[in-house]
Amino acid sequence: MACLPAAPPALRRWLGLGLFVLLCLSLGYALEKKVVKSKVGEKVGLPCCHEIPSSQSLHNYRVYWQKNTTEVVLAYAEGKMISKHDRYENRTEMNTKNLTLWISPVEILDNGPYQCVVQHLTYLQNSVVVCDEPVTLFVTADFSKPNITAEVSADSCESTEMVVKCSSYGGFPKPKISGALNNASMVWNASWVSESSLSPYNVTGQLRLNVTKDVSITCSVEYNGFTKSTSLLLKKTNYCVVPTVPPSHNVITASSIIIIIFLLAITLAARYLPRHVCSHCCKPQDSVEEGVKECMKPPVSSKVTSETSSV
Ligand SMILES: *[C@@H]1O[C@H](CO)[C@@H](O)[C@H](O)[C@H]1NC(C)=O
Ligand SMILES: *[C@@H]1O[C@H](CO)[C@@H](O)[C@H](O)[C@H]1NC(C)=O
Ligand SMILES: *[C@@H]1O[C@H](CO)[C@@H](O)[C@H](O)[C@H]1NC(C)=O
Ligand SMILES: *[C@@H]1O[C@H](CO)[C@@H](O)[C@H](O)[C@H]1NC(C)=O
Ligand SMILES: *[C@@H]1O[C@H](CO)[C@@H](O)[C@H](O)[C@H]1NC(C)=O
Ligand SMILES: *[C@@H]1O[C@H](CO)[C@@H](O)[C@H](O)[C@H]1NC(C)=O
Ligand SMILES: *[C@@H]1O[C@H](CO)[C@@H](O)[C@H](O)[C@H]1NC(C)=O
Ligand SMILES: *[C@@H]1O[C@H](CO)[C@@H](O)[C@H](O)[C@H]1NC(C)=O
Repeated sequence: MACLPAAPPALRRWLGLGLFVLLCLSLGYALEKKVVKSKVGEKVGLPCCHEIPSSQSLHNYRVYWQKNTTEVVLAYAEGKMISKHDRYENRTEMNTKNLTLWISPVEILDNGPYQCVVQHLTYLQNSVVVCDEPVTLFVTADFSKPNITAEVSADSCESTEMVVKCSSYGGFPKPKISGALNNASMVWNASWVSESSLSPYNVTGQLRLNVTKDVSITCSVEYNGFTKSTSLLLKKTNYCVVPTVPPSHNVITASSIIIIIFLLAITLAARYLPRHVCSHCCKPQDSVEEGVKECMKPPVSSKVTSETSSV
């Protein structure tokens, strides 16, 4: 009924009403293909297409739960389990009324199309297929919270060049990795590792970045509608703000030069002045060598003499 208005009138004229209803049914069947979603380790129930009426029991039925039409996961005949798959051993059970197949704990390898086929056994031991219905199991595994690391590869006064890496592991299915720099979206150079198409994935994103000021980087890993994100503040490394440091260096060197010159001047003055005075007072008395020695020994007296002489 729902697809009647969508069909063009010409088509309606071409097809008889019965044919049209058939088309609608198969179309609806294809569109309503059942999908069950689950996470690794959880318990999941795959619904079957038939519920056994309370007046009857499983003894009148054969039920096959099969995967991808090739492997029998679990099968019942006349109320007894007749087949069980190695990989599903101890992980499956079937509700004996509504025939739901329970799998616990569910694994990534359980991903895929399943089908329950129900046969009703008649009194003449003929079997009639009551229904068969596909249901797709979609198992996801959570990725780890992305880990962002930044390594400075080059540094100049204008910018800090860094290699930023984002990694996340152990999830399923193959994820998308996206990013943002201060809310502006950007693209990671991504690579994926997985042992097989039905194994957990590790994902790594890499990026070379020139940072001219502090910037916030975000890494998001998206899989089957889930998102895990991490942000990191990338700091412009500071030692290139050298222009503010040299002035203080200059002040120190300049002031130390001034102090050195000052001290030098004082010592020079202290030496130079007494000598003049001494040469006057020492020379006439003794020899040059002894006079110098005597003059150097008592600086206090010489200073006094210099003062008195100047006055
Ligand atoms: C089948 O029965 C079980 C237990 O009564 C219930 O949890 C489950 O939802 C049922 N499934 C369907 C498809 O009716
Ligand atoms: C299933 O369970 C039985 C009984 O608990 C145990 O002996 C057997 O080893 C189990 N099989 C697997 C594959 O775990
Ligand atoms: C289903 O089985 C077919 C044939 O055995 C195989 O080619 C296909 O990859 C299988 N699909 C899944 C989802 O396992
Ligand atoms: C992130 O990765 C770095 C380098 O590989 C590692 O040292 C650190 O332990 C990781 N951090 C987390 C939270 O996993
Ligand atoms: C990014 O966007 C969020 C919300 O849209 C806002 O709160 C935040 O301030 C923005 N950050 C920057 C750096 O623009
Ligand atoms: C992305 O990474 C691969 C390998 O890690 C490298 O070969 C390639 O050049 C990179 N591409 C860009 C655009 O950086
Ligand atoms: C994925 O990463 C985990 C943790 O780092 C590691 O143990 C595992 O071997 C990796 N898997 C692959 C397929 O590289
Ligand atoms: C970053 O800047 C340096 C110079 O500051 C330049 O040589 C380099 O190519 C730039 N790298 C990128 C990835 O823009």
